Amino acid sequence: MHGPHVRSPPEGVAAGQEKPETGAMSQAAGEQVKQAIAGVFDRASDTYDRTGVEFFSIVGRTLVEQADVQPGDRVLELGCGRGAATMPAAERVGAGGHVLALDLAPGMVSRLRDDLEQAGLRQVTCRVGDAEAPDAEPGAWDVVLASLVLFFLPDHEQAMRSYRDLLRPGGRLAFSWFAVDDDRWERVFEELVAELPPSSRSARRPGQDGPFASADAMDAFLRDAGYNPVTEVRPLTVRYPDDATWWSTMWSHGRRSTLERLQDEGLLDSTMARMREHLDGVRTEDGALEWTGGMAYTVAAR
Ligand SMILES: C[S@@+](CC[C@H](N)C(=O)[O-])C[C@H]1O[C@@H](n2cnc3c(N)ncnc32)[C@H](O)[C@@H]1O
Repeated sequence: MHGPHVRSPPEGVAAGQEKPETGAMSQAAGEQVKQAIAGVFDRASDTYDRTGVEFFSIVGRTLVEQADVQPGDRVLELGCGRGAATMPAAERVGAGGHVLALDLAPGMVSRLRDDLEQAGLRQVTCRVGDAEAPDAEPGAWDVVLASLVLFFLPDHEQAMRSYRDLLRPGGRLAFSWFAVDDDRWERVFEELVAELPPSSRSARRPGQDGPFASADAMDAFLRDAGYNPVTEVRPLTVRYPDDATWWSTMWSHGRRSTLERLQDEGLLDSTMARMREHLDGVRTEDGALEWTGGMAYTVAAR
């Protein structure tokens, strides 16, 4: 899923769908993939981004800073999850701005609505919606925002092209994605999928040849699509204080799809045992597990 190879870092998103390495798929297959992804995130939504390990919130906050969201802005957010980028965007636009936050997983939407109500952030509207076909006014948005989402979309290239029409002149498409994996984890994640067929080894990166292959490839793709893009890759370290926290985090995000599949096939216990054998390779002196990767932040002006 990332890096030059299909690899699997500990945070984020493997969707676990059977999808081709590159390119778009048929519309019917795409719809099936989207429903499966929505199901995984729906089941994960209770604990998603709530296992005590800071990751999505750091990426979301950094993305909103990079996008330079301003007071009064109108922000369309795609794949909002539990609000890692929604909350900082809402704070920045203030009472005079508006954030429309969409997610395909109803559990994410209802939980984020509760959190927004508690925080008194009335400038956000949150509803179920598809990032590939957002029901949003064209030419009206200062920022289209998507944190760790776009690589899930079956036809992500077409989707990214289409967002240009949603932006007002001078508006920006701003999104984050996984750019560099932590090689120390390679053995652990090889074991995760060792007993599964290659077609089910999902990726945070939909292929080595497309825009998610590198920052340069992303910027070249976006320039061709009519944007003026800048991608910055920043290192990010995640620390899991103990193994139990790491395992529970694995169930809380997109990697859940692989764990569910292993469970269905009676392979989970043996897979976990093999993975455990490699965890010392990523352990720090105080017993924590540590992952350091490179997160990409792309801001593409219309
Ligand atoms: C890794 S999470 C990121 C959530 C949030 N942006 C964050 O940074 O924590 C990916 C999210 O994208 C959503 N998603 C995946 N495909 C989608 C689609 N086609 N339309 C809308 N949301 C989608 C998932 O339901 C999930 O909430």
